[in-house]
Amino acid sequence: MAVADWPPIEKMFTSTTPGRALASRFVAGDNLAEAVAVARRLNDDGCLVSLDLLGEEVADRESAGHAVAEYLECLDQIESQGLDGNISIKPTQLGLAFDEELANQALERLGKRAAEIGTTVTIDMEDSRYTEATVRMFERGQAGTQNFGIAIQAYMKRTATDLERLGGLGGHIRLCKGAYVEPSEIAITTKAGVDGAFAVYLTELMMRRDVTPAIATHDEELVALALDLAKDRDESFEFQMLYGVRGDLQSRILEEGHPLRIYLPFGSQWYPYLTRRVAERPANVWFFVKALIGSR
Ligand code: FDA
Repeated sequence: MAVADWPPIEKMFTSTTPGRALASRFVAGDNLAEAVAVARRLNDDGCLVSLDLLGEEVADRESAGHAVAEYLECLDQIESQGLDGNISIKPTQLGLAFDEELANQALERLGKRAAEIGTTVTIDMEDSRYTEATVRMFERGQAGTQNFGIAIQAYMKRTATDLERLGGLGGHIRLCKGAYVEPSEIAITTKAGVDGAFAVYLTELMMRRDVTPAIATHDEELVALALDLAKDRDESFEFQMLYGVRGDLQSRILEEGHPLRIYLPFGSQWYPYLTRRVAERPANVWFFVKALIGSR
């Protein structure tokens, strides 16, 4: 069991003011209304947004149904508030962990509603237990309303094959480094190795005409590489970054006139998301520790 999965650690974060303060740096609010207000502000600043209802690994049909209802509400708000945004979903939030068909039907419903209002649905990529089924979900979605995107993780050794497999399906491909702990049999585990793989896939994606690359990184060197490759690309692409991460780099990209979408998580189920943000940058935890000491 990872330290973050130990119930007392989770309780320490979720039930204390410093824990919630740390979460609020990365999470747009506890509910949709708060997230919509942040989305409006980001749109006004020139950013696109991707609304992400926090929650994953749901274990029953009822919870999966709640997630679908909340996402439909989210799409209604995007339409009624005239937001420039789409939604990002985790397949296990739609029931993938126990019923792939249920998750597919939910995704199709969301895809149809998103198409009605002229927007898209990005399928987040979770840990390797779900990679194959997630790729299948994207394939099925694209065979229908054709307004889907999928996140692909540079650290996975299968990614080269997946990118080949997804060729010709259109949609958008969000290239990210990968946020889960995976064994070395199936994933690259060194930072240099992951960064190198990202650069190779980025180069390939930026040459492809059949997909819209969504470059999801805060790594300045990779952003610079993307900008260099973009000089030879007439078709669209966008940068994607996480809410609360590298605001300076986000501002610079906007100032230079490049499209930037902010991934905007909201909702009460923020703990797993927060643990991934802390794992990427352990220094984040010092903010929590200092606040915790200060509050005593
Ligand atoms: P890297 O980790 O090397 O960080 C580069 C620099 O960014 C750091 O030096 C630091 O300055 C800053 N930084 C990065 N993370 C930070 C943090 N948490 N706090 C503060 N500063 C930080 N993963 C996945 O497995 N499935 C998915 O579906 C997605 N989806 C996704 C969407 C979007 C829009 C983004 C930007 C990222 C994801 N990810 C993801 C997460 C991704 O895989 C990766 O874990 C993080 O983006 C961190 O990697 P970087 O590319 O930023 O590089």
